[in-house]
Amino acid sequence: MTTNKERETKIFNAINNEQEFLIRICTLDDLDAVIEVNERELPEDYPYFFYKNILDDFPESFLVAENKHGKIVAYIMWRVEKAPSINSLKYVNKAHLVSIAVAEGYRRKGIASLLLSNSMKAIKKYNIHEYVLEVRVSNYTAIRLYEKFDYKIDSIKKNYYRDGENAYFMILTI
Ligand code: ACO
Ligand code: ZN
Repeated sequence: MTTNKERETKIFNAINNEQEFLIRICTLDDLDAVIEVNERELPEDYPYFFYKNILDDFPESFLVAENKHGKIVAYIMWRVEKAPSINSLKYVNKAHLVSIAVAEGYRRKGIASLLLSNSMKAIKKYNIHEYVLEVRVSNYTAIRLYEKFDYKIDSIKKNYYRDGENAYFMILTI
């Protein structure tokens, strides 16, 4: 059980004056609900231990949005990877957006934007030089969202998804 005080420290932002939603750090208890949102909204599904490992390793940037009834309606999760920098051979820490999804009835209310802005701030503590992600070339909505945050298309990853669709590799350099 989390105490009220703990809950307070986890809450990043209430979306509107009616406190219709809140953004907070994911807990172990939330994982089943997170997986439910993922499986309903995205064809890229992962086993439980995959979520659990990310929660164990990078908990600060694993965020959920809950509605006023306490139901999880969105999540975002990141991991940190060491990889060559985009403009030099130096190895740098990159924040890799693993997955974000907002349940259908809760979209276009700014939830994804709040998840992104708060999690990007949180993961910066790993001395991040770049934020990176892949997105389906057909996923106009998500591409618009990332462009709004200044991500740029770096390249195309051919045949990236299981069904053969290409991905845009998008980058935001700090
Ligand atoms: N049409 C055009 N642009 C859109 C739309 C849309 N239907 N929805 C969002 N956007 C863009 C706009 O630029 C919007 O800014 P604006 O409202 O000021 O115009 C911006 O995204 C932010 O909108 P939010 O309300 O913050 O986004 P939302 O909470 O609706 O979530 C998301 C966006 C996550 C893409 C949602 O549509 C979703 O869950 N889609 C299915 C899952 C998915 O595609 N996830 C991304 C996969 S890639 C990955 O995970 C790395
Ligand atoms: Zn990826």
